[in-house]
Amino acid sequence: MPRVKSTNQSPAAKSNKGKKIKTLRGFKDILPENQKFWSFIFNKVKNIAQDYSYQKIDTPIVESAKLFERTVGSSSDIVSKEMFAFEDKGGEEVVLRPEITAPVARAYIEHGMLSWPQPVKLWYWGPVFRYDKPQTGRYRQFYQFGFEVLGSSKPDVDAQLIIMANNLYKSLGLEIEVQINSIGCNKCRLGYVKKLKDFLEDKKLCVDCERRKKTNPLRVLDCKEKKCREVLQDAPPILDNLCEDCNNHFVKVLEILDENGVVYNLNPFLVRGLDYYNRTTFEFYLAGEEMASQNALGGGGRYDYLVEQLGGRPTPAVGFASGVERAILKLKEKNIEVKNEARGDVFVAQLGEQAKVKCAKLFNDLRKEGIKVKQAFTKKGLTEQMEEANRMNVRYTLILGQKEVMDETIIIRDMESGVQEIVPFEKAIPEIKKRLLDVNSGVKIYTEKNG
Ligand code: HAM
Repeated sequence: MPRVKSTNQSPAAKSNKGKKIKTLRGFKDILPENQKFWSFIFNKVKNIAQDYSYQKIDTPIVESAKLFERTVGSSSDIVSKEMFAFEDKGGEEVVLRPEITAPVARAYIEHGMLSWPQPVKLWYWGPVFRYDKPQTGRYRQFYQFGFEVLGSSKPDVDAQLIIMANNLYKSLGLEIEVQINSIGCNKCRLGYVKKLKDFLEDKKLCVDCERRKKTNPLRVLDCKEKKCREVLQDAPPILDNLCEDCNNHFVKVLEILDENGVVYNLNPFLVRGLDYYNRTTFEFYLAGEEMASQNALGGGGRYDYLVEQLGGRPTPAVGFASGVERAILKLKEKNIEVKNEARGDVFVAQLGEQAKVKCAKLFNDLRKEGIKVKQAFTKKGLTEQMEEANRMNVRYTLILGQKEVMDETIIIRDMESGVQEIVPFEKAIPEIKKRLLDVNSGVKIYTEKNG
């Protein structure tokens, strides 16, 4: 047996002995009682991604710091203040990813997706990290799901993404309002930024905006400080300064949204906090809710220069990402009922030692047949087990007691009608299969694939 070496503990380690270690500020556990919200949203996102032909991509949580410095922008809050950055053991500057669009663009180049049929449509789900000030709706580790379309400049794609997001939130039970703007292309934006700079020159702004005035004046537009908001009322509107191509592109996006009945609000101040955007930018808020930054359910826009910035061929692209925790907050605030997704077809209940042994095998055999089967073998009493079966919302319960073990039978209970029937034990699986077929008018519902 391996022997555990005793270590000499430092005085500090000794004095901390017995102190409870807690999660770090802004981090949290996702407890079993909350898992249903996570699987509810994940399943809706996965289903809509399949409907709209997006393929799933997972990128690493740790990436090179350069990836975000070059794309999100070194003057952005995300890069300048909020990155979890450290030097790895090999001396490389790495970060816990603060967002997933730049990693997707990196992957697009790295895996030669340019040679795939265009546009390439990808979706993702995973944790991201920002050293933000923790508060409701703002965490240091949070989950994002997102959709990216790389390889198309068409305004239809921008509009379709927004329509899809609208449908997705609706399917979660959330009515949203879209804030939308266009910040033009590299050419027309240059002229606008000069105008804005001239306008801001003698204005008194918040500390952050006094800095942004010099480093990135466009970012002043979406400052939430009252002082800056008042000044900005008279700022030259960006939408009046778009070139003809950008204007036509934006008008087309809005036309498609109108045709599809998407409620939106033209917001000439929406530039978003990441530097890679051009043309369409948008954010999603719960309908009727204040536009505070910790309230945004999601946001995105075009990033036609990002792939090129990372060394790839020019590839127009557009996408958005949404915060999972924020969607869950809204579901809870609105008391939207979320069913436990762990619904089963059959529950196996047992009474007595012999029955327990037989049921363990029966449970496994049902699983092997692809039937969604549940059990609570740690509970002894039949009443407790039936309560579990009800909670799990199963269609049938198989009950094996001492009498049934002796008779080599088993009881099948229909959980909706309450009708019970005794069948030979060896017929349990074929009988259950037959009934699961019947309840769904001949459609096989018991296999994992179809279930
Ligand atoms: P973002 O606006 O920085 O965009 O983040 C997207 C969403 O993530 C926000 O709307 C919000 O729901 C959630 N979120 C952001 N920060 C926090 C936080 N500290 N705590 C909890 N939730 C948060 C992006 O990340 C872009 N990559 C979106 C994109 C995709 N653009 C094009 N494609």
